Amino acid sequence: MQIIKTIAELRQTVAACKRQAKTIGLVPTMGALHEGHASLIRRCVSENGVTFVSVFVNPTQFNNKEDLANYPRDLMRDAELLSNIGADFVFAPTPEEMYTPEEMNRPFEFDFAGLDQVMEGKMRPGHFNGVVQVVSKLFRLVEPDRAYFGEKDFQQLAIIRRMVDVLHFDVQIVGCPIVRAESGLALSSRNERLSDAEKTTAVNISRVLFASTDYAKTHSVDQTVQWVTDELNAIDGLEVEYYEIVDQTTLQPVTDFAHAIGCVTVYCGPVRLIDNIKYA
Ligand code: PAF
Repeated sequence: MQIIKTIAELRQTVAACKRQAKTIGLVPTMGALHEGHASLIRRCVSENGVTFVSVFVNPTQFNNKEDLANYPRDLMRDAELLSNIGADFVFAPTPEEMYTPEEMNRPFEFDFAGLDQVMEGKMRPGHFNGVVQVVSKLFRLVEPDRAYFGEKDFQQLAIIRRMVDVLHFDVQIVGCPIVRAESGLALSSRNERLSDAEKTTAVNISRVLFASTDYAKTHSVDQTVQWVTDELNAIDGLEVEYYEIVDQTTLQPVTDFAHAIGCVTVYCGPVRLIDNIKYA
């Protein structure tokens, strides 16, 4: 497995793969890899001639400087895991390699058609501008046939699908199911920041979400939203930032459960965790 640090080297490597007519799979990540990423990468390896994984903590998608500073980084550990699961190339640039100073400081413009006005977008203004900025750059550089994203970041996946439509990228977006610990906790790089006690508390997030699919059978959308919020807030150490039940494509609020997904953000101590559950 080769670690690539510069855009020039990335371009040469991609060109060589294209000359050999290999199908290219890309898994964009911010590192701190866990079994959730590994499942995306294994799928990518099995479906493509060559697998590129980007490991880049993208500064333009952090609206909170402290969150950016605290984001776990360990390229050597990530590289070992990637090599064990068969990735061919890791692209790990510096922010200066990816962005001009202007790009770093000016919000990237994109017409989200309202997809950025709800949930994560509402709570983290500018976050999805940065995501679209970096993923569109990666798509232009790697020109993948397929790109893999986890459904845990469901809003991100919906936005990337729109970006591909609007900017006419010739890439198949593959959404992959959430990977959970045996306890039910959705795997996330942020879990590394949870103490053992907080991990035990955080298990309640998925427990309540799963239980809500039963509750929803006999209650309305609004009642289910309230129930999930109350159940989670009643647990010591958890504080709900939002729970919304929305359409899986438009991310707009719904009044029935057809094509609905519930998306939650919960603070577990200082750590902000997200999870979701499909009702249909
Ligand atoms: O989901 C992530 O890890 C990031 O948002 C992504 C897609 C790698 C862009 O930086």
